[in-house]
Amino acid sequence: MNAPTDISPQDGRALEALMAFWAEAGVDTAFEDAPVDRLAAPAPPPPVPVRPTAPVALAAAGTADPDTAAAEARALAAACADLDALAAAIAAFEGCPLKGMGARQAVFSRGRPDAPLMIIGEGPGAEEDARGQPFVGRAGQLLDRMLTAAGLADQVFITNTVFWRPPGNRTPSPEEQRVCAPFVERAFALVRPRVVLLLGAAAARSVLRAEEGVMKLRGQWKDWRLPEGAIEAPVMTTLHPAFLLRQPQAKGAVWSDLLEVAARLDAGR
Ligand code: URA
Repeated sequence: MNAPTDISPQDGRALEALMAFWAEAGVDTAFEDAPVDRLAAPAPPPPVPVRPTAPVALAAAGTADPDTAAAEARALAAACADLDALAAAIAAFEGCPLKGMGARQAVFSRGRPDAPLMIIGEGPGAEEDARGQPFVGRAGQLLDRMLTAAGLADQVFITNTVFWRPPGNRTPSPEEQRVCAPFVERAFALVRPRVVLLLGAAAARSVLRAEEGVMKLRGQWKDWRLPEGAIEAPVMTTLHPAFLLRQPQAKGAVWSDLLEVAARLDAGR
């Protein structure tokens, strides 16, 4: 966007204050160069094609309905024989609407491909979006410190329910999670962890289809079983490390969940 040259210093200051307000509110990504008048009358719909057309590949990020996109994700994921192929398939996937909302890159995973413990968070934040790895910002550093203290740091494979940063770090929608879920499930099938740890309510909603609040869910063992095969593992939900940064007094609950997880891993050795 060209910088306007004819605004007064007063208008300039007002503009700066408005931008600071939006940035503070988490609106830090522009999707268009020009403003959009959302109140204007909608444009007439395009004419309906007269000839039937053959199915075509998805035109742009996130333009398919969630069911179609999830089916495409499932087919792509099923064809991946290892985690490198899965990472490449995710990076090339156009079906998640988040991909067209300002994310710089796909953020898939870090950790051991044969990890006994799979950890699933919500979705990448700003630091993860910039560096291309999950949980490398402040919440991730806290997670790493807790994993180290529990003796679990070298036993993990870490991913998220979605692979593109939601704008303004908002919670991913159930539709965005549904579209990405086949890739998460394929990662689960390829890593075959002995235990899964879900971080926060959004991860529990996506993986366990849990309706309960995270305070009620945390600390309980559930089961995650893939519909199509013999892949299953016990799942613990705990509080998200970003929540702990805001509410440090909740660290004790997460610590006790991590010790449960460590004990379960030890018991299965
Ligand atoms: N929060 C998440 O849920 N995932 C990340 O990767 C980073 C922060």
